[in-house]
Amino acid sequence: MKIIRDKESMRALAITEKAAGRRIGFVPTMGALHEGHASLVRAAVAQDDVSVVSIFVNPTQFAPHEDLDTYPRTFEADCALLEELGVDVVYAPERASLYPDGYATYVTVEGLSEGLCSLSRPHFFRGVATVVTKLFATVLPDRAYFGQKDAQQCAIIKRMATDLDLGVEIIEMPIVREPDGLAMSSRNRYLSESERHEALRISAALRKAEALLAAGERDAATLLRRVRTEMAPLPVDYAVLVDAATIAPVTRVEGEVLLAVAVNMGSARLIDNIKYKAPVTPSASDRLKSEESVSCC
Ligand code: PAJ
Repeated sequence: MKIIRDKESMRALAITEKAAGRRIGFVPTMGALHEGHASLVRAAVAQDDVSVVSIFVNPTQFAPHEDLDTYPRTFEADCALLEELGVDVVYAPERASLYPDGYATYVTVEGLSEGLCSLSRPHFFRGVATVVTKLFATVLPDRAYFGQKDAQQCAIIKRMATDLDLGVEIIEMPIVREPDGLAMSSRNRYLSESERHEALRISAALRKAEALLAAGERDAATLLRRVRTEMAPLPVDYAVLVDAATIAPVTRVEGEVLLAVAVNMGSARLIDNIKYKAPVTPSASDRLKSEESVSCC
C-alpha cells in the first residue's frame, strides 16, 4: 500500500493507472475510520482495479467554533486497517497544499445545500463540495463511494458530479450500524456512556417510522410527529421528510423519500436517516386499461 502526501505524485499515479486502462475507485474520508468507512473501502477494492482512500480533515467544512482541532486523528490505525482491506493507495495531503495562501475558489451546489444540516452548519456543504471537487481533480476516479449515513452530502455530490460533468460515477452505500442500531460515526467516541445509551432512541424512532411506512402511512406530519415522540427528550435539531434526490420537503410519501434526523448530544452531533421508496400503486385509469386488455384476449 502506497501512502502519498503530495498532490503532484497522486495525480501522476492516477494518470499512469488510467493510461494503462485501469479504473480507479475512490473513497474520500476524514480518517478515524470505522466499519462504516470500511464498507465503502471493501466495495472499491472489490469493484475497481485501483483503490484510493483519502484521509484529510477538511478545514473548510468546519465553522470556527466546531471541532476541527479536536476531530479524532488516528492515522496509524487507519493505515493498518486500510492495508488489511487491500487498499492500493492512501492519499493524505497536507492542509497547506490543498489550501495555500490566497486560496479563493469554492463550489456551491444550490438548492440541495439549503435546509437540514446546512441550517445549523451553513458553511458545511460548500466546504464538502469544494474539497471533493479538488480530490476528484487529483485522484481522477472513475467511481467514488459515499455513505447514505450522510444522505444530504450524497445527494449534493451526485448533483455536483452531474452538473459539473465530472465523469465520476457516485455510488451510495448503505448505513452501517452498531449491533444495537446506532449509526456508526467517527464522532460517536465523543459520547458519554449515558449519552451513548440515550442515542439509541434515534435508530429506534427511525425503525418505528419504517414500520409505519410499511403499514401504509403516507402523511409526513403524522410520521414526523411519531419520530419526534419516540426521540423525546433528546435535543432534536431537525426531523424532516424530503424528496431523496432534491432534498425538498414533502407533505406526502411519494416516489423515494428520505426521513432524516439530527440530534445534538453533548459535544456530538448525531445524524441518521432512512430512505423509503413508495411502491407504485396503479392509478384508476391504469387499472381500467389492464382490465380492458384482459377482456380483449
Ligand atoms: P467522513 O465523515 O470521514 O465519512 C467518509 C465517508 O464515510 C462518507 O461518505 C460517509 O457518508 C461514510 N460513512 C460514515 N459513516 C458511515 C456509516 N455508518 N455507514 C456507511 N457509510 C458511512 O463525509 C466525510 O468524511 C467528509 O465530508 C468528506 C466527504 C470526506 C469530505 O471532507
